[in-house]
Amino acid sequence: MSQDNADLEARLAEQDTFEPPESFVEQANITDPGIYEEFEENWPGCWERAADLLSWDEEYDAVLDDSDAPFYEWFTNGEINASYNCLDRHVEDGAGDNVAIEWEGELGETRTYTYEELLDEVEDTAAMLRGLGVEEDDIVTLYMPMIPELPIAMLACARIGAPHSVVFAGFSADALATRMNSADSEYLITCDGYYRRGDALDHISKTNEGLEGVEHEVSDVVVVDRLGDDLDHELADNQHDYDDLVAEYEGSTVEPVARDSEDMLFLMYTSGTTGQPKGVKHTTGGYLAYSAWTSHAVLDIEADDTYWCSADIGWITGHSYIVYGPLALGTTSVMYEGTPDYPDKDRMWEIVEKNEVDIFYTAPTAIRAFMKWGEEYPAQHDLSSLRLLGTVGEPINPRAWKWYYKHIGNEECPIVDTWWQTETGGMMITTLPGVCEMKPGSAGPPLPGIDAQVVDANGEEVDAGQAGYVTVNNPWPGMLRTLYDNDERFINEYWNEYSDAEADEWVYFPEDGAKIDEDDYITILGRVDDVINVSGHRLGTMEIESAVVGVEGVAEAAVVGGDHEVKGEAVYVYAIPEDGYEGSAELEERAAEAILDSIGPIAKPEEIVFTHELPKTRSGKIMRRLLEDIASGNELGNTSTLRNPDVVDDIAEQVSTD
Ligand code: PRX
Repeated sequence: MSQDNADLEARLAEQDTFEPPESFVEQANITDPGIYEEFEENWPGCWERAADLLSWDEEYDAVLDDSDAPFYEWFTNGEINASYNCLDRHVEDGAGDNVAIEWEGELGETRTYTYEELLDEVEDTAAMLRGLGVEEDDIVTLYMPMIPELPIAMLACARIGAPHSVVFAGFSADALATRMNSADSEYLITCDGYYRRGDALDHISKTNEGLEGVEHEVSDVVVVDRLGDDLDHELADNQHDYDDLVAEYEGSTVEPVARDSEDMLFLMYTSGTTGQPKGVKHTTGGYLAYSAWTSHAVLDIEADDTYWCSADIGWITGHSYIVYGPLALGTTSVMYEGTPDYPDKDRMWEIVEKNEVDIFYTAPTAIRAFMKWGEEYPAQHDLSSLRLLGTVGEPINPRAWKWYYKHIGNEECPIVDTWWQTETGGMMITTLPGVCEMKPGSAGPPLPGIDAQVVDANGEEVDAGQAGYVTVNNPWPGMLRTLYDNDERFINEYWNEYSDAEADEWVYFPEDGAKIDEDDYITILGRVDDVINVSGHRLGTMEIESAVVGVEGVAEAAVVGGDHEVKGEAVYVYAIPEDGYEGSAELEERAAEAILDSIGPIAKPEEIVFTHELPKTRSGKIMRRLLEDIASGNELGNTSTLRNPDVVDDIAEQVSTD
């Protein structure tokens, strides 16, 4: 490293706060710090500003109806169509030739869709869905990787008022079946396979296996042929080739249906405390207004930008910030099919350079991997088109933040560290990039109009510097409306902890720990429930545990997250063999396979440790904290209150000597 560079690194390492670069502020969508006060004084009317970003078929009567809290309703009696807002209106405004989706395939091929072309594709697909018998409010499951047919199908569903339920393509057959069963979904769009690091992966066999687990009749399955000759597959009687079928509808006109603001736009399953995933319900008006508003205010997106969010559309980040928010604003959204290190570790930067990407949004786990690979990879490319960087999904450590700031943003791009959840629909806590100072490691203050705070166990706000729990006092347009078909669980999961139902005072509890500083900047510390965050992916430890205890020969299991340099957290499994079984390599393999089958490769354990006992308190509760400390290699505190303190050393030895 040159002396100049070393000086720079040292200066960066010491710097705790960063002002937004002048060049950014000059052009930012929001620059007036008065926006915080303006939203507070005019709440909930302030949210009209979000609704005004959209085109409504029927104006709403009221911004918020809180008469049946916490079943809030937003923009009541308004009518709107999401696909119209993401497509037609841009074409009508003369922007039909602007690029909507710039798709980069992993093997180097590209596909470009202008708004006009995307609209045509969406209409054909919408006509195809109707032709199959899909009606308004039928839930269509989409089990596809990052191929253009995925956003096309989402928008086609939105066009005809059929909510979609996207299942991440990396999820297992079982996970597909669970979600289709829960949503009673009778239609599925999937694909034959996809490419990873040049290899053709079979997706259709996994799909078919999943379909065997669906308890109701599935009327139709449409299969995109992504792999051509690289994979032969046969179609069952109710299965159709996507291209062949859609060709029958080429040139169709499908009018967007006017949906009530509160009609469901989509379901997104996410992990919770119990083994059963939660079907988070998002609605049309509020969700779209919120994803468009935050794309405008936080990501600073404008129609003539090229914007790239590197998430997978199978997660909420891809829904809100690859598809709905950016397309509602008429921008060019880049979509990358593959892995960040194929064919080489500069792939991401090659895409940024080639497409002259203005705004780049990724996850801390990716940034930590880029750091590990080395600054020489981004240095090979001209990244000067970038004006704003973002992160999402997990806490970012200051060192990774600063690396991103310097080596990707060249100290000229603000970074927005955006805290939010599947349930919140869009960003909640983050800096406004043209207004706020940045503090690496801290997400920032709650966004204007978001009444978030950090409280203690009694719901009292903690002092600056103290740790507590994030809560949100007021509702917001992008919030989930309920858990599909389970209002009771909705209340129990999110509104029980800090609300006073009798006084009709409702407080949303996201289950995250946090600290707050004297400037109201919130630093997220991580989940406080049995959910872990592996490479920005949210996994329920109970789901993993139930897979492991389903293995013959396993009596009991505890799954926890342990610190991991790149993934943030990694899965650690501690299991007790049944009488007559031993913790053999074979049993370990079967446990790993069970996890793969029930969830998918994202839940692959870092380590599976067999032990004759799990550390328990005198009342018989498994001491998970201790297991987490062992997994993270932390100093172990006092274990004398355990019923079985001896077991701790045995387990720790196995983890460290492996
Ligand atoms: O723990 C928080 C963490 O991710 C959880 C939500 O996961 P999911 O619903 O899958 O949505 C991820 C994408 C929005 C949160 O409860 N999380 C998300 N963003 C951040 C974060 N933790 C720290 N900092 C963030 N910026």
